Amino acid sequence: MGSFPRIRPRRLRSSKYLRDLISETSLDISKLILPVFVSEAIEKPIETPGLEGQLTYPSDSSNLVNFISEALDLGIRSFLIFGIPKIKNEDGIRAYAPDGPVQVAIRNIRKEIGWDPLIFTDLCICEYTSHGHCGIPLNSRKGDVIDNDSTLKVYQKIAVSQAQSGSDFISPSGMMDGQVKAIREALDDAGFNDVGIMAYSVKYASAMYGPFRQAVDSAPRFGNRKSYQMDPRNAKEALKEVRLDLDEGADIIMVKPAILYLDVIRLVKEYYPEVPLAAYNVSGEYAMIRSAIKLGLIDETQSIIESLISIRRAGADMIITYFALDAAKIISSGK
Ligand code: PBG
Ligand code: ZN
Repeated sequence: MGSFPRIRPRRLRSSKYLRDLISETSLDISKLILPVFVSEAIEKPIETPGLEGQLTYPSDSSNLVNFISEALDLGIRSFLIFGIPKIKNEDGIRAYAPDGPVQVAIRNIRKEIGWDPLIFTDLCICEYTSHGHCGIPLNSRKGDVIDNDSTLKVYQKIAVSQAQSGSDFISPSGMMDGQVKAIREALDDAGFNDVGIMAYSVKYASAMYGPFRQAVDSAPRFGNRKSYQMDPRNAKEALKEVRLDLDEGADIIMVKPAILYLDVIRLVKEYYPEVPLAAYNVSGEYAMIRSAIKLGLIDETQSIIESLISIRRAGADMIITYFALDAAKIISSGK
């Protein structure tokens, strides 16, 4: 006597241990990178504007060092540092000043904690410029545009300055053509062939950067970023951007945002399985989930883990996320 149904997928879902045993995707704390905001314009830590639950630290403070130590104790080993200057100008001079916010923060961390934490530094000028663009504006007959090649020279100065302060990985996010090659050359010429590059290779012109731009006051004062960031309608174009960055010497590549671009993560992983792939779970994605949790609409623990798992399942090896500390606590508790 045959019973129906003979094949029962539910047999593999009956207990937590069994579900854990057969699970296809894992989320380890070692795969998470925590964004950290450091400022030279404040004396004490402040709530990061636009990003509930995140703090901005004075670059030179023991608060910053304690925060990094506590994160390390929770198992977070990787940090992506963003700097906020006191003054802004046309070419973003505080981004490469030896006593700029990022430089001071890294030296502070290296002096007090040492070289255990992996420090990635975002390399861009939009936080540092009076116009809020990621490159130097140029008046052309086509109207205001961002000048690619003069921007690369500024990026080279920033890269060397970040490396001199003790950055492990330079992370260019400005989407200028040739930025990885320019930075690789500048680093090598300055003797930093041990400093890596995590390239924001596939970065879309997304509405999801809204909270971040409030946090670091980097919204463009005129126009938008569509002449350098990618068009959300394009997926295959991602393969071209990745190929160029790899040819230019990128060590780690990135897709950004993450959750709205899971298909792109999958595509890039399929074409370049051997290359470490990061995904940036950006500020707007964080804010959407945080807001829904706050309204009591979705469960906090489950929505944080499920959203990060979706990024890993799509094919990302590592995730940059404002949820890193929350996730670390959840993962350690074994829930
Ligand atoms: C700067 C930069 C941005 C982000 C990372 N680096 C903003 C932008 O391009 O406007 C976005 C991060 C986030 O939204 O969490 N170029
Ligand atoms: Zn920028």
